[in-house]
Amino acid sequence: MMQMPRRDLSRSNAQFRRAVQRLPLGVSSTFRYWGEDRTIYLAEGKGGRIRDIDGNHYVDYRLGYGPAILGYADNRVDAAARRGMEVGGVFALSTERELAVADRIAKMVPSAELVRFSNSGTEAVMGALRLARAYTGRESYLLVEGGYHGLFDAAMWQADVEGWDAGSNADPEVVPYGKGIPPTVRKLAHLVPMNDMQRLEDTFRRHGDQLAAMLIEPIQGNCCAISARAEYVQLARKLCDQYGVLLIIDEVKTGFRVAKGGVQSLLGVRPDISTFAKAMGNGYPIAVITGRADVMRCFRCGGASHGGTYTAHSVSLAAAEACLRILDETPALATLADYGARLKTGVSSILDARGIVHSYTGHDSMFGLFFAAEPPDNYRAWKTSDYSFYDQMAYFLHDLGVICEPDSREPWFMCEAHGLDPACLTDTLKAVETAVDLTLEHLETAEKAS
Ligand SMILES: Cc1ncc(COP(=O)(O)O)c(C=O)c1O
Repeated sequence: MMQMPRRDLSRSNAQFRRAVQRLPLGVSSTFRYWGEDRTIYLAEGKGGRIRDIDGNHYVDYRLGYGPAILGYADNRVDAAARRGMEVGGVFALSTERELAVADRIAKMVPSAELVRFSNSGTEAVMGALRLARAYTGRESYLLVEGGYHGLFDAAMWQADVEGWDAGSNADPEVVPYGKGIPPTVRKLAHLVPMNDMQRLEDTFRRHGDQLAAMLIEPIQGNCCAISARAEYVQLARKLCDQYGVLLIIDEVKTGFRVAKGGVQSLLGVRPDISTFAKAMGNGYPIAVITGRADVMRCFRCGGASHGGTYTAHSVSLAAAEACLRILDETPALATLADYGARLKTGVSSILDARGIVHSYTGHDSMFGLFFAAEPPDNYRAWKTSDYSFYDQMAYFLHDLGVICEPDSREPWFMCEAHGLDPACLTDTLKAVETAVDLTLEHLETAEKAS
């Protein structure tokens, strides 16, 4: 029997017991709650690593769900943010830096003819959908199963793949992400399985003339990094043109990560609107809605409403200016993608040595690990994977000093600092090897017991 890894979480556990008296689940986002005994509270993050309040150190592959593209507490971005602080916060008026950042985005992303700032991915996608409705005068929209576009009612409809019988001919039921989402909103949302060309054509044939937008996340950052084939997104482009529907590419996770010009540049598809957030500010809250000039000009008095007290906040804007300059002018994205490729090679050699069949989805900078010979090409196919192996392995990895998402649907994220810290790879692979062996032993014991 291998020895079980142990972490002292006594301070985090005590903090949880206090916090839960004041904060629902003891946290500020439901996804940060990992159970009474395993919810951790952080002291700090630096580069690709974090430290909890018990003094446990981790190599982190969640990176706040992607924003820390350069690494936590990046000196270059933080120095810029401090200069932003001196500007004075928000004024309910504009500053010159907005144009400088918008020009940088337009240089990096050819479809970004005009730019509007927002504070979060949710706000940006919400604004993008409103813009599409304003432009087309239509209300319905098309979502792709497994996609995630933020916490607003219109986007919170998902295919219930977990409750679905994969052997049946029926589609998974479309259900809300939890309570509080009005069923009346449901009738405006249509869902299609990713990479199914026939279904896409059929759906446009039936509903195309009522759709304002098709919203797609071509690398599904909340669904194992399952990826759209280029021909699928190209077909979506063609059908959108044919039916007068606006194509919105949600680059909240992929933007300024998988390529300077986002996933759209890898696919060779020009959306009408796209949304960016996370990586653009290395963690400072900032997002953008960008797109075709004629569409974007619907943001005007008497047109589509958009604004908000904190939009283009001087601190976030200064951080974004520095972060985007680094991403545009230095090899940071190549460094982190190269690290991801080396990490995958290392993990594969551990799994191959034990005869564990696996594959990867997504991009070297954000990838999903999948325990089947072929990666899934849509959310329905994810169901056929044995994710119990992943779940158990992730549990052990946390104890061994590597933080990955406990849910197999969240990809692993790379940052520049991982690639610049030679010990990150060796520390991670050492932990992965132990976690894999512990998982094998655990599953074998469980099987014997059953
Ligand atoms: C693709 C995508 N769109 C939108 C959002 C919402 O962004 P935020 O959490 O900043 O509101 C997310 C968040 O993970 C996302 O991954």
